[in-house]
Amino acid sequence: MALNQLTEKPGHVPEKAVFDFDFRHDEGLIANPHRRVLELLDTAPKVFWTPRNGGAWVALGFEEVSEALRQTEVFSSSMRQRKEIEALMKLMPDDMPRIPQLVPVSVDPPVHTEMRKPLAKAFSPKSAMKQMDKIRELTDQLIDAVVDQKHCEFISAIAEPLPVTVFLDMMGLPVERLAEFRELVHEVLIPVHGPDNMPMMLRKVADTLKDDILARKDDRRDDILSALWGLEVDGKPMTMDLMEDYAVLLFIAGLDTVINAMGYAVRHLAENPDLQASLRADPSQIPDAVEEMLRRYSFVVPMRRVAEDTQLGGFGLKEGDQLVVFLAGAGLDERKFENPTEFDLSRDSKAHLAFGGGVHRCVGMHLARIELQTVYRQMLSRLPTWRLDPAKPPKYHAGNVIAVDELHIRWD
Ligand code: HEM
Repeated sequence: MALNQLTEKPGHVPEKAVFDFDFRHDEGLIANPHRRVLELLDTAPKVFWTPRNGGAWVALGFEEVSEALRQTEVFSSSMRQRKEIEALMKLMPDDMPRIPQLVPVSVDPPVHTEMRKPLAKAFSPKSAMKQMDKIRELTDQLIDAVVDQKHCEFISAIAEPLPVTVFLDMMGLPVERLAEFRELVHEVLIPVHGPDNMPMMLRKVADTLKDDILARKDDRRDDILSALWGLEVDGKPMTMDLMEDYAVLLFIAGLDTVINAMGYAVRHLAENPDLQASLRADPSQIPDAVEEMLRRYSFVVPMRRVAEDTQLGGFGLKEGDQLVVFLAGAGLDERKFENPTEFDLSRDSKAHLAFGGGVHRCVGMHLARIELQTVYRQMLSRLPTWRLDPAKPPKYHAGNVIAVDELHIRWD
């Protein structure tokens, strides 16, 4: 779809629900993401309809986002994926390759329940804890590589190599292919290809992983691919298609997210030397700081399709409508979080939606938390106070993740 193309307002959308906002290309969002989110919370309804991106509802407020995430029978993830694939089939009906299905995030209950079980085990708090020493070692190596130069571009130096290496290691993929996987992360996760091309990008990830997935079938080790091969799903033996589906989702869900959570937090710390000092003096505050960073700078933008006519935010939504679930708005909604821009470790309400909510709530959150806590702890203990490089401002992009592309920091 052309960048500025507007979709005509359907009859069931009242004028007062219309607000023009392009969550993929909005200039304000790309210039300074959460400042723009605050502006939206001030000016837009808590649920609105935008003519951009094919016409879509956007849930912006905490309660509305929470409701959308919890009502899986009304706000469907399966239907969303089905529509995407149908659209693609219209473009290339004859020679369409198999497009990986993002299980379990793109399936609704009850199938979702069965599909999620294997991952819940692989990413349990205990499995995540087992990664801790390795994560700390890796973080130290990455810090070693930049400490003496007194500056770095944080995303490429630390935020990206860390989760990509952890991912390869946990999955049982060859760490020697790190450079190739980082290339793939860039190709798949930056928006130059546009959302229309996403299914083909998913195919590319599956093709890259294929040989290694197969290799684990007959040579089981202590890794997630081997564990998944050993499982039955819904009483049936594992298939190569389903292995591919799991692996592609873990690639998409586990990398870009951790990278950006780190990006926003390290930027916030760079702008707040007093907070750095306070966390250095008392590192036991770091776990709470991780949660407050995630609330303050939520950045994942899940999508749904309306499966049956319903109400949200006082408006009538019709079956088939798209819904953009804008988690970044929920975290900054002052109806839920008093003084939402303040970084406050003693908040009464700590329940943020950065990891989603309801049945699809992030299965990788224990691992993510350990990665985030470890990076902040090691950076605070090993680097002096860091600040933003005034000559090189941060760069961002928007889409299904509001992402930090570049973050230059310096220290003395
Ligand atoms: C700070 C880092 C992370 C954030 C903010 C995050 C956020 C999210 C969100 C918002 C969802 C829900 C999506 C929806 O409702 O459509 C989700 C689901 C998911 N995440 Fe994460 N995630 C993070 C890290 C990870 C990691 C490290 C992994 C694994 C390696 C992971 C794996 C998954 C999976 C498999 C799902 C689907 C769960 C389901 O559908 O039941 N995530 N994540």
